[in-house]
Amino acid sequence: MAFKVKDHFFHKAKSENYLARSVYKLSEINDRFQILKPGQLVLDLGYHPGSWSQYASEMVGNEGLVVGIDLYPINEKLVPVKNIRLFEKDIFDLKGPQDLNVDQKFDIVLSDMAPNTSGIKTVDQLKSLSLVESIFELLPKLLIPKGHLLIKVFESQGAQDFLKQQKKLFKEFHYLRPEATRKTSKEYFVIGKGYSG
Ligand SMILES: C[S@@+](CC[C@H](N)C(=O)[O-])C[C@H]1O[C@@H](n2cnc3c(N)ncnc32)[C@H](O)[C@@H]1O
Repeated sequence: MAFKVKDHFFHKAKSENYLARSVYKLSEINDRFQILKPGQLVLDLGYHPGSWSQYASEMVGNEGLVVGIDLYPINEKLVPVKNIRLFEKDIFDLKGPQDLNVDQKFDIVLSDMAPNTSGIKTVDQLKSLSLVESIFELLPKLLIPKGHLLIKVFESQGAQDFLKQQKKLFKEFHYLRPEATRKTSKEYFVIGKGYSG
């Protein structure tokens, strides 16, 4: 499990009642690319503990819905939130929206998923890449045409090559390392806007 960085963002998250400091990665990305809008149906892959779901739920409002999946048991702290629905589920077992009691595709797919790391660089890069690949494999079933995608990726040549091939699926494709990303981290985020469907 990743160690907790008790920096400015950690304390800010605590004081603003967010469940993790990673909320500031999503908020920075959203401020720049405006992907979250009121009324949207959002899928949050690897939601636990749930700061992205909290933020997305505020952005989509009462008319919207955030559906989160994670390997961890459901975070009870989020159960009272009316526009968040959570599932204990592995992305590799997900077939489509019907598994999440949703009868339509999502307006936006978010993924902050990170594999349990082994410390062996090449193994961890492959694990991370297979999470990214699984998302793209499911996209035709999950994302509406013109929808948006935001995913976390760990740096590797394999990931770079894979993403280059996927770029054409979106009208706009951006790479970003938000300010809240730890200096030592090898992660970055990919934002795809306007899915060709
Ligand atoms: C960095 S945390 C997400 C933090 C979250 N975005 C937040 O703001 O609270 C990464 C999560 O990805 C989840 N994850 C990793 N592999 C997964 C998989 N195969 N299916 C679903 N979730 C997965 C982990 O269990 C972990 O909770």
